[in-house]
Amino acid sequence: MAEEILSFEGVGFRYSDPSGREETAALQDFNLSLMAGESVAVVGESGSGKTTLSRLAAGILRGGDGVIRLDGKDFGRFTRRDWREMRREVQLVLQSPSAAIRPRMKIGAFLREPFLCYRLCPRGEVERETARLLERVGLPESVKSRRPGELSGGELQRVMIARALAVKPRLLICDEPTSALDPAVQGEVAALLKQAQRETGAAMLLITHDLALASRMADRVVVLYQGNTLEVLPAGDLKNALHPYTRALLGAIFTLSGGGEPPAKGEPYSGQSLCPYFGRCPQREESCRTKGKVLLTVAEEHLSACWKNI
Ligand SMILES: Nc1ncnc2c1ncn2[C@@H]1O[C@H](COP(=O)(O)OP(=O)(O)OP(=O)(O)O)[C@@H](O)[C@H]1O
Ligand SMILES: [Mg+2]
Repeated sequence: MAEEILSFEGVGFRYSDPSGREETAALQDFNLSLMAGESVAVVGESGSGKTTLSRLAAGILRGGDGVIRLDGKDFGRFTRRDWREMRREVQLVLQSPSAAIRPRMKIGAFLREPFLCYRLCPRGEVERETARLLERVGLPESVKSRRPGELSGGELQRVMIARALAVKPRLLICDEPTSALDPAVQGEVAALLKQAQRETGAAMLLITHDLALASRMADRVVVLYQGNTLEVLPAGDLKNALHPYTRALLGAIFTLSGGGEPPAKGEPYSGQSLCPYFGRCPQREESCRTKGKVLLTVAEEHLSACWKNI
């Protein structure tokens, strides 16, 4: 059996506004176990809590409820050394690569950094290793002498992937890795990430609002709505999703043959009903007020929070 890399148990997070009076529950009772080599996509509309989840997983955001474990060790018990090690084992690929690199730094220096910082190879081999990385992500060695502003968004994202691969990560956290790119380049970068994940055997937590990308990149998909998990299913079964919200998201995918309708708007979640999607659900019934929100097994490896799916 594959070993567990990352796990969330009852994880919740609230942001409070500077006055401390108002709070936003960005994530509630989140549970997930990510195995070595597995790729899990977390999907949902804007504001559903995806980035909050990725920042918690990366240890950038701390505090909150529940337990997050990396290799079985609770973040709450991490020593400085554990955090340092984590910085190496867990690599992030974010939406906006330009934010992760200083504008005046040359790409060569940026790629050399992890080799020097973690002493990944003898100094004399660093140039060869960085050239090899660039080749892996399909870029010429000549980009080493350029600065970030002299590369396209797609090229810069390839540089980010190259740097993430340098340390042979065990977990890749990718938050909207392709959404800032031109559609033609999105597919290439997605394919590169998938290939890199396969080759390294790293686990992947992919954060995206794009269901097509999720089905292409992931083994499993978790659907978040206002911080609540509404459905978990194998990515290959996404077209057979059962929860009304996931079905609405699928209906919102724009294709040339139709679609593109956003999920129906309705009352926002008031907290009075148990089902978080109650206010917007086209299939709601009065009894949804008293049932809901608990994830139920509806098929093998398929969970839904809608009681009507059983
Ligand atoms: N620093 C913050 N302070 C206060 N509230 C925040 C903060 N960051 C996020 N939130 C709120 O938490 C909720 C979840 O935000 P989050 O960024 O995790 O959503 P998301 O799913 O990543 O959205 P998007 O698809 O737009 O990136 C939202 O209601 C958001 O307004
Ligand atoms: Mg986000």
